[in-house]
Amino acid sequence: MRQTGPDPASTDHLTDSIEALLPALEAFLRFEGPDPAGRRSAWYPLLDRPLPARGSGREAVLAEMRDLLIPYGLRIGHPGFSGWVTTAPSTVATAADLAQTVVAAQRWWATSGNLVDTVAMRWLVELLGFPPSFGGVYTGGGSTANLLGIGAARQHAGERLGIDVSRDGLDGIPDPRVYASTETHHVVGRALGVLGMGRANLRSIATDADGRIDLGLLEAALDEDAAAGRTAVAIVGCAGDVNTGVVDPLDDLARIARERGTWLHVDGAYGGFGLLDDRVRDLFGDVTAYDSFAIDPHKWMAAPVGTGAVIVRDEEILARAFAIETGAYDRERDREPTMGDLPSPFLELGHGTPDMGVDFSTPARGVAVWAILSEIGAEGMRARVTRHLDCARRVAERARGSDELELLIEPVLSICCFRFRPPGVADEATLDDLNERVLDAVRARGRTVTSSTRVGGRFAIRPCFINPRTGLDDADALVDEVLAVGRELAGRH
Ligand SMILES: Cc1ncc(COP(=O)(O)O)c(C=O)c1O
Repeated sequence: MRQTGPDPASTDHLTDSIEALLPALEAFLRFEGPDPAGRRSAWYPLLDRPLPARGSGREAVLAEMRDLLIPYGLRIGHPGFSGWVTTAPSTVATAADLAQTVVAAQRWWATSGNLVDTVAMRWLVELLGFPPSFGGVYTGGGSTANLLGIGAARQHAGERLGIDVSRDGLDGIPDPRVYASTETHHVVGRALGVLGMGRANLRSIATDADGRIDLGLLEAALDEDAAAGRTAVAIVGCAGDVNTGVVDPLDDLARIARERGTWLHVDGAYGGFGLLDDRVRDLFGDVTAYDSFAIDPHKWMAAPVGTGAVIVRDEEILARAFAIETGAYDRERDREPTMGDLPSPFLELGHGTPDMGVDFSTPARGVAVWAILSEIGAEGMRARVTRHLDCARRVAERARGSDELELLIEPVLSICCFRFRPPGVADEATLDDLNERVLDAVRARGRTVTSSTRVGGRFAIRPCFINPRTGLDDADALVDEVLAVGRELAGRH
């Protein structure tokens, strides 16, 4: 039937609608009782419905959210959750996300969202200790932030050979290569694939005894490739690798990059906020020597998932790397922003441009960062990071002090890798199997949920503390759970 009246979607009743969800959201965030989400038979069939030909209306949809979507959500904000590198947003960040959705989508236009996004980037640059000449752009996450940093490196490598890669492609750049340690997150390899350089052209360099990129092997690889006429596009350093939190020797990487005229990209998606803790600040070296830096406010800063950022020394290279032609429909992009008063914000764009990334339509992701920093300030972030490093150190201390636990690597940031190792069990395969079962059983009990990795080939239980709700008691609870479950399973072994 032809629609002549008002649109079928409601565009009013915002208060009613949000209020209808709030009790369920508050209940979810109390994380009471056993986690119901595992009982899939209770909710899969109800949510997995065919496309409705006719809508059921606002109230029915809200009821479904209240009764199904919310209660069966993922409890990554639970204080006992220390898995992977993820957490739930803080209250102000959640509220900022809602406000931004309503008023600040399409961040390029010269409205409050655009300005706040710009201010939030300036604050992030300052918080992390970069000089004000550095700039950047918010992205959907660390994956895109790394893509943009390496994209800028690719542009830089081309320009050194007189080629505008963004316009003319990679022809003319002989065998582009990127160098990173074996511990580097796989999104870096994917970035090479997306950027047309090929995942196979990521040269993975083994790590030294401390888990840091082996500088001798790196230089040997660079020499070998230079002799073969290949192009060093970038060296990628880990500022907190995802497995163990190890920080590569970034000052050395900066020196090597400078000597060879190549680019230093640093992946601080997880560990970048470690810059705020003076006990480990020196590990990060001189940040002014970085060419680009990926950082994820949706990790340690507890911004809503979907908030990453890339910070660069030279925004112009980033803009050339991701240049986009102006369409006939968006003539405002050709105008220089005046930043003066306007009769309408639709007359010109604000700060930043869609050339600085791969998004065109995009939310003002920086609004959440601005709200978080407005609420807790630089000192609040510093206190959180310090507390979380303390949590990792607490787990390490307890592992060292127990004859049933083994610390697999000294924690550097807020990750601590350890395992259950009852006296008398030395066989590695048995220990791997036992620890896998310990991890599953700990998760099943629900008091704490964490994740795993491998350290030196061994299966490791790997808490990563970034959760604003998590403190030292939760770190202790995790160790207690591992011991309790481990003893039970080892008894049956
Ligand atoms: C070191 C590191 N780099 C990159 C990423 C990818 O970031 P995102 O998941 O935000 O895309 C992660 C995710 O955990 C990470 O820990």
